[in-house]
Parts: sequence; structure tokens; C-alpha cells
Amino acid sequence: MPTARTSDLWWKNAVIYCLDVETFLDWDGDGIGDLAGLTERVDYLAGIGISCLWLMPFQPSPNRDDGYDITDYYGVDHRLGSLGDFVALIRTAKDRGMRVIIDLVVNHTSDKHPWFRAARSSPDSEFRDFYVWADEPPAEPKTEVVFPDAEESIWAWDEKAGRYFLHHFYSHQPDLNISNPKVREEIAKIAGFWLELGVDGFRVDAVPFLLETGGIAGDVNLDPHEELRDLRSFISRRRGDGVLLGEVNLPPKDLRTFFGGKDGDEVQLLFNFNLMQAMYLALARQDAGPLAAALRETVRETDDQQFANFVRNHDELTLDKLTDAERREVFEAFGPEEDMQLFGRGLRRRLPSMLDGDQQRIRMVYSLLFSLPGTPVLFYGEEIGMAENLAIDGRMSVRSPMQWNDERNGGFSNARPSRLRRPVVEGRFGPLAVNAAAQRRDSDSLLSWMERVIRRRRETPELAWGTWQVLETDVDGVLGHRCDWEGRRVVAVHNLASEPCVVSVELGDVPDEAHLDDLLDERPALDEIRGTSLELKLEGYGYRWFRIGTPDQQTPP
Ligand code: NOJ
Repeated sequence: MPTARTSDLWWKNAVIYCLDVETFLDWDGDGIGDLAGLTERVDYLAGIGISCLWLMPFQPSPNRDDGYDITDYYGVDHRLGSLGDFVALIRTAKDRGMRVIIDLVVNHTSDKHPWFRAARSSPDSEFRDFYVWADEPPAEPKTEVVFPDAEESIWAWDEKAGRYFLHHFYSHQPDLNISNPKVREEIAKIAGFWLELGVDGFRVDAVPFLLETGGIAGDVNLDPHEELRDLRSFISRRRGDGVLLGEVNLPPKDLRTFFGGKDGDEVQLLFNFNLMQAMYLALARQDAGPLAAALRETVRETDDQQFANFVRNHDELTLDKLTDAERREVFEAFGPEEDMQLFGRGLRRRLPSMLDGDQQRIRMVYSLLFSLPGTPVLFYGEEIGMAENLAIDGRMSVRSPMQWNDERNGGFSNARPSRLRRPVVEGRFGPLAVNAAAQRRDSDSLLSWMERVIRRRRETPELAWGTWQVLETDVDGVLGHRCDWEGRRVVAVHNLASEPCVVSVELGDVPDEAHLDDLLDERPALDEIRGTSLELKLEGYGYRWFRIGTPDQQTPP
């Protein structure tokens, strides 16, 4: 019963959907999305086949970093609702078969958090050591600054304390001192609180920074990974299947260490920033090479572990792991204007505008997302092909209101447009052209296609659970990969180039009497396996998924 196994490590074959409550749906008409609005759209999300929601921060915050600057870890920003509304959301999501994870932002607090207020006001405060202080800022390379547009250094002078404090992000986000056992206790308490309210785990913000002990004065006797192991075992004690999804943007070898190696006792899920960046390079070049190379470096060591794949997230599309020349190629292809770029390392656009609205190419990219080994993570609006609003500052350009219909404010809110949390996209990708209501009624729309592909993805656990290999093809633009699991075999083929082609894909080991089941298309499987190779005609940006079946196997329809 292979499928029964997939109910255990639920995150391995999940489809995760990230959203910001503030920009999803405004239910009380104040211009700001809220928990009540989100709850009203749980059925929409369940209908798409989303199995897990990831909520960006919704706690009280001065909102200088869109909620990633928290002042109270145990509350809900009153503009978004109450703890009662939060529990109602969780209960509704669970009833529709969806799990919920939330951001755990504990690398830093807001500088308005009562802990920091107390810490800066007196050296005797019990919270003084919750943060990291220095009399003189240690020399540090400028590359350590995460937001170079706003910050010169990771150390800021605090008048009240008469000392410098550490902040890897904005200077209004002082870093917590992870070497302080009381801070670690608080982190566990925060996680325990939300688990008790029913969440299924956490997207852990800025993991390498959270564990960083450089800069902390005195002898720091802490193995950073020990803290992650402690957090994982705490979560598992409180909730056996609770998950940690780590935000770690490091090269593959360093990245893997956050799984906890063969012990697999740290985070279960890691975003695959490397694969994502290689994908954009491959798309820009119309050459599968970079993606194939990145896939070969994507290695899991235990069954629990999984990579989380994404096309876009809520931040800039970072290309920091590419060489300068490679990054220039991607900029040139997908964001040539300065205003589309950010921090010299990324793009502040969404996919559909980068691909100039080319439906075939957009679908090919999402077909890749859903077939690459790992758990797919969607950012709200991707399912309908929303673009960014470059009129919104910096990284926030991609966090414009969800486009529900073609009415006022795209159906996001009844408030006057000037009162909206952020302005709606205008023009070619605005709600008149791109909205969920119209796409629901059109079986050829991106949304309808997404529903079908997500359904297929969830019925194809080989992609999530299997061992994968890159297949040889004789066309540079074509990526072939294969996933094997429990005696089943699935092959996906993607043409990253605009030119149609006939490609021969070397399948590897193929049993006698094998046949191909086409998993995406309505057309019957016309393609024949000859020996171990498959000859296929692919249109420009074409994609196919197949199961290599044998007469004795019963597979989904
Ligand atoms: C990473 C988050 O994705 C980003 O949006 C945020 O600004 C920083 N961490 C700081 O919390």
C-alpha cells in the first residue's frame, strides 16, 4: 500500500500556499485583509488542492518590515482580527483537510518590543542579555548587511544603552541573543503556544542568522545546530508531526547540514534557493544545463527530509548564488530596467510579467515546479498569474492585494482605494484582465490548469518520495528527469526553449512490457518506448509527464 505511507510524513507530498493575511481579503471594509476574510476563502484554497497554508506574520507589529518586526509573540495584530478569529481559521482549514504553518520570526524582535525597551533602558534589566551588545562595533564585511539599501552596518548605536547592538536586518530589528538560555526558553514557549492553538509547524525565518553566534561577547559555548536540534525535539514532543521549514539560502553542501545529516534531527524542510536560481538561469538561456546541474546537487539523506521548491516568494527573487555574469544574463532576460532590480542581487517582479504573459511558458515553469523533487510552495496569486506592482516600494512590489474579481479593488476590499493596505496592480495584469472569478469559469484558464496539475501532483507521490535522476536527452533545451519509488517510475520532460523539437530521452532501466501513461494531457499515450529510449515531439516550452507502467501495476486513473 504505497499511498498509505504518504500519510505519515505529510509535508513530503504537500502543496503549500503562502499568503499575507493583510493582502488576501478584507472582510470588515477597513482596507486591510483580515483573518475573517481568509477564513471565507479557505474553500477556494481547498478547491485548488492546497494542503497546507503558510501564514506570513500576523502578530502585533509596527509593520516597518511587513510584520517581520514583532512586538508581541502571543497576539494577533488587532487590525487583522483576534486570537478567536485565528482559532476559527485553524478549525475551518482543518475541517477542509488543510494544515497551517506560521512564520516563526525569532532571529530578532521589533525595537518596540517590551524586551528591547527594557533591555536598552538599564544594564540591570533582566532583558539586557536578550540582545547582543558591543562597546565598539566589530569590523565586519559589508556583505553581511542584508538590506544594503537601508543599512551600512549590522551594528547600530543605541543612545539609551550607550552601546552598539547587533541587527542583521534593519536597525529597527535588534537580533536576539541565541546563546542566552532564557531566549531559547522563550522561543520554545512561543512555538509551544501556537502549537497549542493548532498550528502544524513553522516556517523558520532567517535560520543561519538566528543560529549565528559571531559578535556575541564572551565565551559562547553553544553549538548552533544544537539549538536547532533542541527546537526540533521540542516541537516533536509537543506534536509528533509538527514540521519546521527552514529559510536557509546557502550553497548545497552547507544547506544540507540544516537537515541534521543522516540523523535528520534538525529541520524537515528546506527551501531550495539553489535550484530556484539555477532554474531562472536555465530559463534565461533556454538551456536545461544549469537546472540539471543543480538537481544533481540536490541531495537528501533521510526519508524525513524534503526540499521546498518555489518559483517566487514574498521577497526579491534573489540571484545571489549566481556569478555576476550569470546574474546579468537573468537581469537582461527578465528584468532589464533598473527599477525591476533590487539590492544588485535580485528582481522585484513576478513570473508572468517576466515572461511577458506567455501562457505556454508560464505553464511550463509551473509544470517544472510541480514535478521537481520536493514540496511545491506557491505564493498567493501565482495560481491566477498575478504580476507585481512596481509602484510599490522595494520588495513589497509583489505583495499587492489578491485579485478576486474585476470589480472595485479587484474584489479585495470595499474600502476607498486610498485606504487599501497596498495599491492593486494596474494595467495589463490588473484585475480586469487577471482575476480568480473569471478564471473559475474558464476551463482553459491558468487557475483551471493549476487545479488539474496540482491534483495530478498529489496523486503522483513518486515525485515527492522517489529517488530522482536527471535523464540524458539529445536537445540542450530539454530537461528530462525520472523519479522511482516503490517499484513505480515517473518521467517528466520539459522544453525550456521556444523552439519546438523532437527529442530522444534516455529512460534508463525500463521493465519488459512497459507502457507509458500520459499524466497531464487528455490525449492518449501515443509515444512508444523503444528499448530504453523515448522519442518525443515537444512544442516550444512544451512539457509532458509520464508514468512508465507495467501490466501488473494498478495506478491512478
Ligand atoms: C526573511 C523574510 O523573508 C523577509 O521578508 C524579512 O524581511 C527578513 N527575513 C527579516 O525577518
